Amino acid sequence: MNIAVFASGRGSNFQAILDAINAGFLPARITVLISNNSDAGAFKIAHKYNIPTQHFSQKMFFSEETLADAMLEVLEKYHTEFIVLAGYLKKIPVQVIRQYRNRIINIHPALLPSFGGLGMYGHYVHEAVIASGEKVSGATIHLVDEEYDRGPIVLQKSLRVAPDDTPDSLAAKVLKIEHEILPLALKAFAEGRVKIEGRKVWIM
Ligand code: GRF
Repeated sequence: MNIAVFASGRGSNFQAILDAINAGFLPARITVLISNNSDAGAFKIAHKYNIPTQHFSQKMFFSEETLADAMLEVLEKYHTEFIVLAGYLKKIPVQVIRQYRNRIINIHPALLPSFGGLGMYGHYVHEAVIASGEKVSGATIHLVDEEYDRGPIVLQKSLRVAPDDTPDSLAAKVLKIEHEILPLALKAFAEGRVKIEGRKVWIM
């Protein structure tokens, strides 16, 4: 399965996918790494593995349509069959979502629908979880649709929030879970073991 990865940051989830592929666990290949941030650590990882990269910044396009057209062209060029948002902080144009309906997943560092939605990314998520006094957090993989962080849930894994957890210590624990469940979910898609009916998703 040809995967395009979108990342805006350091790329540890991108690395986790690469590790699962190189270990022979995930029958897939990453054909392109796309980012809105030319300084993203994910670019460095891509270069290390000779994976083609593409930088898309909103400033380069005067409308969402032209950005979408350019993005779709690149996704076609690299024979993309599946898209992973691994810490991608920009909105995916609706034309791309439609073209890749049910073939785009996002990983979110909390148990959606809690602690999701606009502004809920990175550190803000863990700060909100700690501030709320929640005793449980975790990571969620969901299909990406037109509503931010609201797509049908594919896979989640939870953990207990310790009384002495800080946003940093919680972030580190959740990140470990992310690196576990992302390759699992992708393997299920790559092996055709995901059934989607409307908003219901099953992994066989
Ligand atoms: C992860 O915590 C992910 O859940 C969120 O952004 C972060 C990306 O981290 N969407 P990395 O760039 O993969 O290390």
